[in-house]
Amino acid sequence: MRLVRTISDARARRSEQRTAARSVAFVPTMGYLHEGHLSLVRRARQLGDTVWVSIFVNPTQFGPDEDLDRYPRDLERDLSLLEQEGVTTVFVPSNAEMYPDEPVVGIGFSGLERLLCGEDRPTHFAGVGLVVGKLFNIVEPDVAVFGQKDYQQSLLIRRLAADLNFPVAIEVSPTVREPDGLAMSSRNAMLSDEEREAAPAIYRALCAGRNAVLAGERDSTTICRIIHDVIAAEPVLTPQYVHCVDAHNLAENPTISGEVVLAVAARAGTTRLIDNILVSPS
Ligand code: PAJ
Repeated sequence: MRLVRTISDARARRSEQRTAARSVAFVPTMGYLHEGHLSLVRRARQLGDTVWVSIFVNPTQFGPDEDLDRYPRDLERDLSLLEQEGVTTVFVPSNAEMYPDEPVVGIGFSGLERLLCGEDRPTHFAGVGLVVGKLFNIVEPDVAVFGQKDYQQSLLIRRLAADLNFPVAIEVSPTVREPDGLAMSSRNAMLSDEEREAAPAIYRALCAGRNAVLAGERDSTTICRIIHDVIAAEPVLTPQYVHCVDAHNLAENPTISGEVVLAVAARAGTTRLIDNILVSPS
């Protein structure tokens, strides 16, 4: 496994692989890896001859009052996990390497970036779009793998790749959960024991919403209330948003018809957790 820290080394490595006609499957991450990330790496191994992983805690996707400084990091451990997974190249750039100057180009998503997570994090997806666009231009992957855990992110990245004609296929891989249902997240490490105990209510709530849809409920306000109430019953959890939206365009329709995503953000103390599930009414 090769550790690459500069863009010029990444490009040199990539061009060697191109000469050898080796396809690249790419998994962008912010590190502090868990089984969710590793499941994407395993998917990437099936999809490409070589696997690239990036580890970069991207400052432009964090708002001024968010947890950038608190975001957990453990590069040694991450590298050893990736080595065990048979990763070919790990790209770990510094902030100065990625942002030598304050960027003046911005990525917008015509308002889709203001929905769901964008309600509380209005600049988040502009930062995600910018860094993922940069990483695609540096790594030039044939395929890139993202997690369903961040559903809105995966949808916006599909649009980024399609609208800007990045020659990359976008693959979305299912959410990996703890045995009690909590979606794996690097942020779970920031939970107190009490918060960790309460956190699985988020998935239980989503399942209650899904069961309501499967039992015939079509009113999105009612579905959201069912989800909200399960989370709000846990004193240490505060729901931030609960949405039941069209899975293809994130539109909120009063009565659901096609596939919907049930999406939640909740605070456990100072930690913000998100989760979602897809459900089709038929
Ligand atoms: P990060 O939160 O590190 O996640 C990296 C990738 O792992 C994302 O595609 C995310 O959806 C996926 N992932 C996280 N938890 C998962 C789980 N429990 N099951 C399956 N996949 C999971 O998402 C980011 O980083 C950043 O926004 C990034 C795309 C790297 C841009 O900076």
